Amino acid sequence: MAVKGTSARAGAAPAELGEAELLARVRAHRVPEHVAIIMDGNGRWATRRGLPRVAGHREGVKAARTIIRAADTLGLRFLTLYAFSTENWSRPEDEVSTLMSLLERAIHSELPELMARNVRLRLLGHTRGVPAGVRRGIEHVAHETRNNTGLTLLMAFNYGGRDEIVDAVRALARRVQAGELGPEEISEAHVAQALYAADVPDPDLLIRTSGEMRVSNFLLWQIAYTEFWVTPTLWPDFGAADLYRAVADFQGRTRRFGGV
Ligand code: FPP
Repeated sequence: MAVKGTSARAGAAPAELGEAELLARVRAHRVPEHVAIIMDGNGRWATRRGLPRVAGHREGVKAARTIIRAADTLGLRFLTLYAFSTENWSRPEDEVSTLMSLLERAIHSELPELMARNVRLRLLGHTRGVPAGVRRGIEHVAHETRNNTGLTLLMAFNYGGRDEIVDAVRALARRVQAGELGPEEISEAHVAQALYAADVPDPDLLIRTSGEMRVSNFLLWQIAYTEFWVTPTLWPDFGAADLYRAVADFQGRTRRFGGV
């Protein structure tokens, strides 16, 4: 795994560059098509300030808004944000319910800006088990933005990478049972086509904030050859300049996809 600060390649931007300079620098090269982010560290951000964890999530929503704007400015085609995993339900009940209402409100209030920016929202994950208000909110915004042609924002919500693979296996098993497909015919392409967003290219770059070196059940199939960038910055402090810095670092890498 390549980690921020360890790459000596061209592309790793000097620390003193500001947001505008970083943006100009990354725009001069090919930007990745798809960036995925594990937004981590809201709880620690709050705890370090003596605040309740939910205060960190509130700031986390603001950071998400900033990064969606920055991704749009940069011209990314796809941005996937890990907003809530299938494992996150095991958090204390009050934290889960506050997160749900925060997300519900954020989704509703973002609709005008998503429309103005031509951003399409799509859900990545199960809607079963999700509180009705949140589910309806996501479905409404996904529907309203369905014809937008700019950035596609994939919100991984109630998402689990293993769950997604299990769902794909079930779909393929049904096709085998129906006699449409032989077991030996099943290829990587069949599995990829049975995933939640089969038409979306695999992420080029995966960013994780707060310094943890884990994948946390995120996009397990899709990240086979994705480049990693991990920063100690906690999610509420992650800004546009951090995104541009990650992309600059990515632009300096040689991707081999298992070859030489
Ligand atoms: C991790 O912090 C963050 C989450 C559990 C996801 C919640 C994300 C947001 C509220 C951002 C908003 C996103 C959108 C798309 C509107 P943590 O609680 O795991 O932090 P910790 O590891 O420090 O405890």
